[in-house]
Amino acid sequence: MKGYVARSRTTYNPRVMPAVARDVEKKIESLRYKIRHHEYLYYVLDQPEISDLEFDKLMQQLKEMESQHPELVTPDSPTQRVGGKPREGFVKVPHSSSMLSLDNTYSEEELRAWERRVHELSGRADIDYVCELKLDGMSLALIYEDGKLARGITRGDGSVGEDVTLNVRTVRSVPLSIPAEKLKKAGIPPDFEVRGELLMPIAGFKKMNQERENKGLSLFANPRNATAGTVRQLESRITAERRLDYFSYMLLKNGRTFFDRHWKTLDALQAAGFKVNQARRLVRSIDEAWEFIEQWEAKRESLPYEIDGIVIKVDRTALQDELGFTGKAPRWAIAYKYAARGGITKLENVRWQVGRTGKLTPVAELAPVAIGGTTVRNATLHNMDEIERIGVRIGDWVRVERGGDVIPKVVEVDKDHPRGKEEIEAPQKCPVCGTKVVRTEGEVDYRCVNANCPAKLIGTILHFASRGVMNIDGMGDALVAQLIEKGLVENVADIYSLTKKELLGLDRFADKSAQNIIDEIENSKKLPLERVIYGLGIRMVGERTAQFLAEHFGSMEALEKARVEELEEVNEVGPRIAESIVEFFSIPANRKLVERLREAGLTLTGKKKERGTKLAGKTFVLTGTLVHFTRDEAKRLIEDAGGKVTGSVSKKTDYVVAGADAGSNLDKAREFGIPVIDEKQMQHLAG
Ligand code: IVH
Repeated sequence: MKGYVARSRTTYNPRVMPAVARDVEKKIESLRYKIRHHEYLYYVLDQPEISDLEFDKLMQQLKEMESQHPELVTPDSPTQRVGGKPREGFVKVPHSSSMLSLDNTYSEEELRAWERRVHELSGRADIDYVCELKLDGMSLALIYEDGKLARGITRGDGSVGEDVTLNVRTVRSVPLSIPAEKLKKAGIPPDFEVRGELLMPIAGFKKMNQERENKGLSLFANPRNATAGTVRQLESRITAERRLDYFSYMLLKNGRTFFDRHWKTLDALQAAGFKVNQARRLVRSIDEAWEFIEQWEAKRESLPYEIDGIVIKVDRTALQDELGFTGKAPRWAIAYKYAARGGITKLENVRWQVGRTGKLTPVAELAPVAIGGTTVRNATLHNMDEIERIGVRIGDWVRVERGGDVIPKVVEVDKDHPRGKEEIEAPQKCPVCGTKVVRTEGEVDYRCVNANCPAKLIGTILHFASRGVMNIDGMGDALVAQLIEKGLVENVADIYSLTKKELLGLDRFADKSAQNIIDEIENSKKLPLERVIYGLGIRMVGERTAQFLAEHFGSMEALEKARVEELEEVNEVGPRIAESIVEFFSIPANRKLVERLREAGLTLTGKKKERGTKLAGKTFVLTGTLVHFTRDEAKRLIEDAGGKVTGSVSKKTDYVVAGADAGSNLDKAREFGIPVIDEKQMQHLAG
């Protein structure tokens, strides 16, 4: 027996196993089967058939057997959900296809406008939709290989996420393995990807925050933040303790939706043992969807987790493909967001917060109030005009609202309570550097105009390092504050001169964490030109404008030299943005900054997007499922050749590119006598 135990897992061969060992293995497997079944009943269906005590006994038995036979422990064993020791960081992994977000609507009218657009773009009259709860957690991709959980990846920036597999393994509603027959029955191939929402139920969130408060630790603002913080724990044992839950809502194969209908996907996921939210409905019109929305608005408080709205998705995959995407959100789905939830509390004080641009924002300091499972202590008052409009004074009782992602805001004074006495004064000086503040004629905000105000610097550096910009993970408030205080960073270029030794001299930095930051900084140099442009923090240049500028000019050098008229040629750039860019580069310190970024090796050149002219003036409609191109690729091909792609066929359409399963667009094309071509012909025309 001894020799058998000592065998390493890789050389272990079941066929040469002694009979007694085979017996043990069988027993272990049958015990695992039992435990998985009870886990499924408890965590997925919420219908346990045995007591916790009986369950614990089974688990104990399995643990004992596995400890006697460590060579038989497999990663998908239920005992492996307990979590392990701290690790040193997370590996970045690209997604099989972008993890998108959703566009939001806030009224019935907007929702109906979306429906109209879907009808117009698709040219169809009868469309089925699936309604689901919009769970307020974070999206997470699960990769299964041969029916076994291989990787769990966070959304990250949508194209690259972090490998959090060890933590995901601790989530009880995530199957670690699925038997081949079960997958087959559900119609799911052995290798696939599931996407869904990871969340922390409200009860667990409250308990965790209570424990943190007792220990004097900082509190999580809401269950969503707590989920994100928990799944990114370096110590998976902590993740295991916090009991996250996972609902799945997408099934992909090679990055593409697998089934032909979304409704089928949800049923198949459920049949395979995934937790799929029961609150879902297949509807044939927005009227029916609206019923679902109203029904759940009334019932949302009774749910054990937070939702912030309802998601409505076009059911048919072919139609989804036809509708495609705009920016980062699909046209085939929409989120209807419920109105913000509110609470009444006392306004204890107002402080002025200085942002990256020097803008001063009044922040209401409130007596803590629970709103939708979250304790709110601070809320924005926007600006002095808003303070005057609602007529609020310190000491007033106010109504505070919180909606999904946004910062809580003070919306009105509750006049049923005794009124506060102290007027809120407009700021005179910057609370950080003491410089006299300025309010320009016609503007609502007060600004600190001191170019060297440390608050601006903190904001600028945080923006530069943030995920959507240079993605320097780990460079958050605490680190940036220390870097500035120690004089190590005075502008964004200084980040690239930081040394490991300097980082080791800061609080809470050990060899590994310092090296991680250095690696992150190094990696950021590879990010494309548009990120650097966005990172400079030029007034009015957001993410989208930065992208257009990068595509138009193809290099920082060309952008620096551009005149107002040239800038105005760029997509969506008007005179105000153009002037802001010229003004930025007219300041010698800014030019010097760019020079230092160049010397540090950042990517300051990109691909100039020369649009071809072969298809200039030609309008295309894509319909049906294409084989050699994704929708986006086909669109890009046509646009790069100077053509235009629209959603539905009209008399102005020049060509219809039809793939398999093409719908009414094809009928219309025939009706109007518009040439219908296939992918090859499209490529030929564009080439
Ligand atoms: S579908 C392309 N379904 O909402 C489709 N998302 O605001 C994208 N979310 O990033 C996702 N509940 O994290 C979908 N039933 C649901 C959802 C849901 C919550 C989240 C998801 C997404 C975010 C977008």
